[in-house]
Amino acid sequence: MIDATTQGSGQRKLPMQGVPQPTREEVLKLPRVHISTHPVMAHKLTALRDKNTQPPEFYRLVKEIGALLAYEATASLALNSCTIETPMGTTQGQRLAGGIGVTPILRAGLGLAEAFREVIPDVQIWHLGLRRDEHTLQALEYYNQLPHQVNLQVAYAVDPMLATGGSAIDAITILKRRGIPRLSYVGIIAAPYGLAKLAETHPDIDIYLGALDERLNDIGYIVPGLGDAGDRQFGTF
Ligand code: PRP
Ligand code: URA
Repeated sequence: MIDATTQGSGQRKLPMQGVPQPTREEVLKLPRVHISTHPVMAHKLTALRDKNTQPPEFYRLVKEIGALLAYEATASLALNSCTIETPMGTTQGQRLAGGIGVTPILRAGLGLAEAFREVIPDVQIWHLGLRRDEHTLQALEYYNQLPHQVNLQVAYAVDPMLATGGSAIDAITILKRRGIPRLSYVGIIAAPYGLAKLAETHPDIDIYLGALDERLNDIGYIVPGLGDAGDRQFGTF
């Protein structure tokens, strides 16, 4: 959590300072950006954003929103045909073609990874610890449990908040080094600034979001946002 009393604008140069932030309308034109229009998403997001929502309820909502995002983000996965026996006879079925990896960006991404696991129980979970330095907003890697041998059709980097984009950009860069054929980012709320940076740096990925907000404030928080997603999930205020 950034301390607004000691880290106001002007003390150190943050990535978005002195740079005009794009508008929502500008980034909505970006290709490969998918923002949910589902009414249930809007309903759950409203409860998530509410400052009176306490950590147990907040975590439950992150998982429910994560399940909706998982359905949207997996809608175009490849399938292989197969033959199975039902109790009534033989039929043609379909199975997902190749494994699916989910990389939660620790720690706030944990709830979303859990949601993916509930939708697709055999996903592989690869933990990646990135923490925003509170003075520079640069993402620092502190934990990496990505395997070296991979055989996946797709991997999803999941994190509720896309603010300056630093954490998401680094996570995708790290996943790209593993040679996974297809990568996507899944987040709950994005700021136009971070979304534009992510799409510009990694134009070859799909980006799935629950909502696109107005802007970053002068200490790099999303407005209106929901505050600190990690603290609100785990009660570390
Ligand atoms: C938050 C959030 C993202 C990051 C987004 O994590 O969960 O990972 O900030 O900011 P960015 O787009 O500017 O990089 P934080 O570093 O606070 O760590 P936490 O998950 O441990 O709370
Ligand atoms: N990280 C958060 O948890 N919230 C924000 O608004 C920005 C970064």
